[in-house]
Amino acid sequence: MIEHRQAGLVPPKPHTAFRDEAGNLFYEEMFTRGGFDGPFSYFYHRYPTTPAREVGETHRGFPAATVDAHAGHPLKRRLYDSNKIEPRGQALDRRVPILANKDVAVYLVHAAESDDAYLANGDGDELWFVQAGAARVESPCGWLDVREGDYVWIPRSMIHRWHLVGGPLRAMVFEAHGGVMVPRDFRNPVGQLRMDAPYTHRDFVVPAGPIATPWQVQDGPLDLFVKKRGLWTRYALERPPMDVVGWEGFVYPWAFAIEKYQPKTGLLHLPPTIHSTFAGPGFLVCSFVPRVVDFHPQAIPCPYPHSSVDCDELILYLRGNFTSRKGVGPGCISLHPAGVAHGPHPGAYERSIGTTRTDELAVMMDTFEPLLPTAQASNLEDPGYHDSWKTA
Ligand SMILES: [Fe+2]
Repeated sequence: MIEHRQAGLVPPKPHTAFRDEAGNLFYEEMFTRGGFDGPFSYFYHRYPTTPAREVGETHRGFPAATVDAHAGHPLKRRLYDSNKIEPRGQALDRRVPILANKDVAVYLVHAAESDDAYLANGDGDELWFVQAGAARVESPCGWLDVREGDYVWIPRSMIHRWHLVGGPLRAMVFEAHGGVMVPRDFRNPVGQLRMDAPYTHRDFVVPAGPIATPWQVQDGPLDLFVKKRGLWTRYALERPPMDVVGWEGFVYPWAFAIEKYQPKTGLLHLPPTIHSTFAGPGFLVCSFVPRVVDFHPQAIPCPYPHSSVDCDELILYLRGNFTSRKGVGPGCISLHPAGVAHGPHPGAYERSIGTTRTDELAVMMDTFEPLLPTAQASNLEDPGYHDSWKTA
C-alpha cells in the first residue's frame, strides 16, 4: 500500500464484461481490506477463482507461535542467535516462531528449498527482512525479486510462494495481525510520501507483473495452503492459480532495501523513533543504518540507558559495530522487555564520546504488548546475556 499501481490488461471500467479477442470472459476478483472501506486491488483472472477439487486437513504448516502463562519469566534481558537454525526445508512451512503477542508474531526462516505449494496467510500481513540470500516471490501481481537487506511486504491472504535463487534464504518474519504499513505521518493529505519521510516512492520495488497472459496461464502447483487462526487448510485446486492477466489497485507485494533508508541525525541524541520505518497496531519497526552521529562537541552518541516502561524492544543485529553492545554479532536478536532498564554495555557509553560515525545496521521492533518467548526460542537463547552487564 505504497501508491496506486496498474499492470497488464484491465477493462476501462470495473465490474463490466471484459473479454479476450476470442470473446472469452475474464473473471474479476476484488481483493479488499478493512471490509469494503480499506485499500483494495482488482484482479482479472483467466478462470473463475473459486473451484477446488478438494478442501481439507493438512499435516503441513509452520508451528504456531504459542506461549504459555510463564513465558518470559523471570523477566530479564534476552539474546537469541538466529545462526543456530540450520538451512532446511521450505519458507512455506519451516518457520521457527520465537516471540509473540496478540499483535505480532516473530518467526525465523532458514529455507534450503523453494516452496512447492502456495500460501495465503489470513492471519496477517507478513513483513520479511531478508538476512541473507535472494529469492523471487511469485504472486498474482507478478514476480518480485528480493535479496539480502530487503524488507518484503506480503499482504494478508495474498496467494504467493517463495522461489530461492542461488542458495538458502535467511529471514526474520513479522506476522502482523492488524496489518503493517507506512506510518501515517510519513504521508501528505493526498497520500504521497512527504519530502521529509525517510524514503521516497522510487525506493519501493513492485512486482513486474502480471505473470499470465490471455493465452497462457503460468504453470504451478495445485496445492494452496490457507492459514487462518493458526490453523492450516489445504485446497487442491483445479488449475494453477497464477492466471491473472491484469491488476490495478493499492494492494500488492513490495520490497524496500534497508540501504535506501535515509537516516536523520541531530545535534544531540534523538530517540529511536526517529528511525521509524514501518508500523502496525501495537508495534513500530525501525531501521538503524550507517550514518553520521550526533554533532554537539560534548554529545554522547551512544544511546542513553533508558526505562521505556511501556515497550518491549527487539533488535536484529545485521552488520557493523553496534555502538551499545559487545559480544553481539550478526544474526543475534536481543529482547529487552519493559519493566527492566536497559542501555549500553559497560564502557560503551564512555567510548562513544568523540565518535563521528556509526556503521551499524540493525532492524528494531518496539511493541506495546510484551513479546513473549516461545518454547523454540529457548533453543536459540544465550543464557548469560542478562549478566553481561555485570561490572563486579
Ligand atoms: Fe532501547
